[in-house]
Amino acid sequence: MKSVQAAALIAGALPFAAAANARGFNMAAQKPDGSCKTQADWAYNFKNMKSLGDFTDVRVYASSDCNTLALAVPPAVDQGIKLLVGVWTEDEAHFQAEKDALEAAMAAHGINWISGISVGSEDLYRGDANADTLAQKVYDVRGMVSQDKYGGSNIPIGHVDTYNAWNASAAALFKAVDFVGMDAYPYWQSVDVSKGKETFQQALTDTQNNINTYNSAAKLWITETGWPTAGPDYGASKATVANGKTFWDDVFCGISPDYPTWWYINRDYYVAPASQAFGVLDENFNPLFDLTCP
Ligand SMILES: *[C@@H]1O[C@H](CO)[C@@H](O)[C@H](O)[C@H]1NC(C)=O
Repeated sequence: MKSVQAAALIAGALPFAAAANARGFNMAAQKPDGSCKTQADWAYNFKNMKSLGDFTDVRVYASSDCNTLALAVPPAVDQGIKLLVGVWTEDEAHFQAEKDALEAAMAAHGINWISGISVGSEDLYRGDANADTLAQKVYDVRGMVSQDKYGGSNIPIGHVDTYNAWNASAAALFKAVDFVGMDAYPYWQSVDVSKGKETFQQALTDTQNNINTYNSAAKLWITETGWPTAGPDYGASKATVANGKTFWDDVFCGISPDYPTWWYINRDYYVAPASQAFGVLDENFNPLFDLTCP
């Protein structure tokens, strides 16, 4: 009974409860020509996203790179878009620059535009950092945003990594985070798109089971999934527009609203016919397939 009351109180007090239903896209800080997005570009990408459906949240990868927060936060605030903020952790100088850019954005715009903060992205998968190091950086960023002057002690702080990197070796990181950001791409598991849904579901189940084991208070956020519409095959996985639409309908549309989800990606940020194109928008920002759910 006591814990039920405590849970109800916490739920009532949380200003970020709306994030539970967040839906949106990953967005790159670069344009297809490799240059950094301007503030007008961010504004256009946000406006376009809102025209595509009920999308309210954007994951950005960095705070300082390409001046992401300085340029993206003003139009996000204008348009009522929330940002899942990325803070790169390597190397130390970059980590400091990322934290400085986040502090500058909070000092200028408060914190209501933040849906969460991911400290690092796929560092475990790449082998760039271990779970203990990342956990310390999660605590560091939580301490920074929790200062009285920012009042961000309720901002969810987490880390994004591939579903299979969220395993027993990440126990210290599970304990440190408010959310476990899961990247899962059945395409990269070399399956026919007809197996996309069950393959994705397995990644979700495995990750949720590990959350239950190592920190049952952490939330699972689906920070990246997608299926390419063009480019080379990956084993049994074929990159076609039809398969992109199938995966969108089967997986993105089918995910429980309990899981905040960011599709990868709204529009490709490179012109590279040799690699897979995951964007759902063409060069003119028109959808490549019908984005309404069946
Ligand atoms: C756990 O994740 C780490 C980091 O990605 C990886 O090196 C390791 O092989 C994984 N262990 C298992 C059992 O999958």
